[in-house]
Amino acid sequence: MSKLDYKAIRKEFPILGTKMNGKDLVFLDSAASSQKPEQVINAFSDYYRYRHANIHRGAYRLSYEATDLYEKTRELVAKALNAPKVESCIFTRNATESLNIIARTWGEKYIKAGDEILISELEHHSNLVPWMQLAERKQARLRHIPLTKNGYYDCSQISKLINERTRVVAVQQMSNALGTIHDLKALALQAHLAKAIFVVDGAQGFAHLDTDVQELDCDFYALSAHKALGPTGIGLLYARKSILENLSAFLGGGDMILSVYKDHFTETTLPRRFEAGTPDIAGVISWSSALNYLSKIGLEKIREHEAELTIYALEEMQKIEGIDFYGPLTKENRGGIISFNMRGVHPHDTASVLDEEGIAVRAGHHCCEPLMRKLGISGTVRASFYLYNGPDDVDQLIRGLRLVRSIFKMPANN
Ligand code: ALA
Repeated sequence: MSKLDYKAIRKEFPILGTKMNGKDLVFLDSAASSQKPEQVINAFSDYYRYRHANIHRGAYRLSYEATDLYEKTRELVAKALNAPKVESCIFTRNATESLNIIARTWGEKYIKAGDEILISELEHHSNLVPWMQLAERKQARLRHIPLTKNGYYDCSQISKLINERTRVVAVQQMSNALGTIHDLKALALQAHLAKAIFVVDGAQGFAHLDTDVQELDCDFYALSAHKALGPTGIGLLYARKSILENLSAFLGGGDMILSVYKDHFTETTLPRRFEAGTPDIAGVISWSSALNYLSKIGLEKIREHEAELTIYALEEMQKIEGIDFYGPLTKENRGGIISFNMRGVHPHDTASVLDEEGIAVRAGHHCCEPLMRKLGISGTVRASFYLYNGPDDVDQLIRGLRLVRSIFKMPANN
């Protein structure tokens, strides 16, 4: 197995030492939200115990210090993304909000009737619905990148799909439903040749992949902290500064203004122009601990560990009869996500049996209904791995799946 000491790591996550339904918790749902290490939990409680004050406002030490800690996280996340400018990084509630901000600000300003927005059937609803709403408001047209049978973007005909009417190409870095990791170079290049913006949904990718927004050559990148050991309710919108500078604030209120008069106002500079109101200060500040935790271990090492676990799980699962897999069965260009169904058993029933055994997996459409429709299924069972999982978790999953087989009396040749 990989060099990652997952057993020592696991001990730093209090919840992973607890029981679920009387059994040791086997947490295989990090694609939905990761668990949190002591460091993040302590930073969160430490802030409220000893450091709380509103930021950017108080003329006293506590407030200055809280402001410094808040801005420190911005520097850390800008570094993690290799963002050329710190002020290109806007704190939001999550990747969903980040993507909505793009559609509501850039989209509102630049999209007009007849323009084309290129997405795919693989996208999470967060990278679909905001574009659908925009297309409806503006009478623009949605187009879809075709998919290969394993769930990658099929870019062979891409120059025909992206044309002078294309204004937006919005894609994901990694699929939350299938685990596929995409090579986005051709899409970025074609998008920019057509003078379209290139938007990357990094909700899943950011937690598992070394991400460089300059290398991705994206104009916008959206992410959530909670999938990468950080708190819930915190996300980030990275935007190319030259684009962001020409956009008006999304929300009006405190902190985003320069001056307010009786009947008009002026907007302040970046990034505060997009951060109206008191934000989740505790969330942002404790996110620093998650960023530090991941960078100390290194995402490359984590990814290698996840790849080995995934291959082990796939090999063992394929020894069980009657499992349908969705997505690739290989180690390359995929993350630690396995989507599958026990033939003839509803995904929720499989998840319920696993739950009784202390094993947490997600079952359903994974906020990817168009993909499920394309696959002709209502949903899948999804097991997803992170740095605290080990082969012992896979062994428990396999035991649970054999139990599903026996409870639902799946025939031997099913
Ligand atoms: N997008 C999250 C998931 O894939 C919630 O489960």
